[in-house]
Amino acid sequence: MAHISLTDRIYIAGHTGLVGSAILRGLKSRGYKNLIVRTREELDLSNAKDVQAFFKEQSPEVVFIAAAKVGGIYANNTYRADFLIQNLNIQNNIIWNALTYECKRLVFLGSSCIYPKLAQQPIAESQLLTSNLEYTNRPYAIAKIAGLELVDSIRKQYNKEFFSIMPTNLYGPGDNYHPKNSHVVPALLRKFHEGTVTKQDVVEVWGTGKVLREFLYSDDCASGIIFLAEQLNVQTFFSEMNNNDFSHINLGTGEDITIKELADLCKATTGFQGEIVYNTTYPDGPPRKLLDIGHIKSIGWESRISLDDGLKLSYDDFLSKSKDGNVRA
Ligand SMILES: NC(=O)c1ccc[n+]([C@@H]2O[C@H](COP(=O)([O-])OP(=O)(O)OC[C@H]3O[C@@H](n4cnc5c(N)ncnc54)[C@H](OP(=O)(O)O)[C@@H]3O)[C@@H](O)[C@H]2O)c1
Repeated sequence: MAHISLTDRIYIAGHTGLVGSAILRGLKSRGYKNLIVRTREELDLSNAKDVQAFFKEQSPEVVFIAAAKVGGIYANNTYRADFLIQNLNIQNNIIWNALTYECKRLVFLGSSCIYPKLAQQPIAESQLLTSNLEYTNRPYAIAKIAGLELVDSIRKQYNKEFFSIMPTNLYGPGDNYHPKNSHVVPALLRKFHEGTVTKQDVVEVWGTGKVLREFLYSDDCASGIIFLAEQLNVQTFFSEMNNNDFSHINLGTGEDITIKELADLCKATTGFQGEIVYNTTYPDGPPRKLLDIGHIKSIGWESRISLDDGLKLSYDDFLSKSKDGNVRA
């Protein structure tokens, strides 16, 4: 039995972003009819008063939180205070008003980068908070961990179907291609694209290229999120697990590659003919971040889109948006 229905009022916070836009596409394609969205101009989610007024007026029955201040290693390490306060404000405003205005199901998103820096691999859900966090994104991680804890505590104290999902590194259509603040996949696609267009001999990649990362295409991520929103028997699932260690479910592909292998794939995708050099003065982040996806697999979900195909789809989207001057950056 599905736990949400096609006629439920469903609010997707952050529907213009990488994940939110994929959730919106996924829900539309599955026939959901009452989808509620607001742009940042219409509703600033860091404004407590406005968010309360929105929930009072709309009282959505289902909420997906894909709104957050998000960025790559440079942005996280540079705008440390902004990442902490904005994420706390956005998530607190949404989660507490969802509880107050009787939302029946809420999905909050963490991120694999909030696990400890040297977590045991592959990273099981129970690894959260077991040792030190990565310094470069610690403020973001602490905000997100507060969100996971709030959702978990609401589920336990108020018996609500609120839960969190921990996706691995994502990429896909509508990604942020900012030259400094973006994640590694859009950053590499953009660099190799520009290298090709301007016929550069060399493209520089940050870090040693030796660390391992897992990548999930955004539409695959949305399919996993919607699958869990529809299918997960929330209270049973979490009470059958060790309820105290466990606040969320991992979402990934279960496979990782080195940044060097990723750079080679992005180079091939864009057709760049020059050389790659690694600038090792930039930090690498943790050596490895591969999620243990045993739980979501056992409930019946697996990713479908290969990295090769996903990169091609993302680059096609980047090219079509470049033509129209619509690349997010
Ligand atoms: N990207 C990844 O690799 C990744 C991996 C794991 C987990 N996640 C999680 O997935 C979630 C979404 O990430 P994403 O990559 O989709 O980020 P994104 O592309 O930057 O999208 C963020 C969304 O939040 C909105 N937003 C931010 N601040 C807002 C505010 N004050 N008021 C209203 N809207 C606001 C943005 O609106 P604008 O369009 O106006 O900026 C945008 O729609 C985050 O929780 C993130 O932790 C992402």
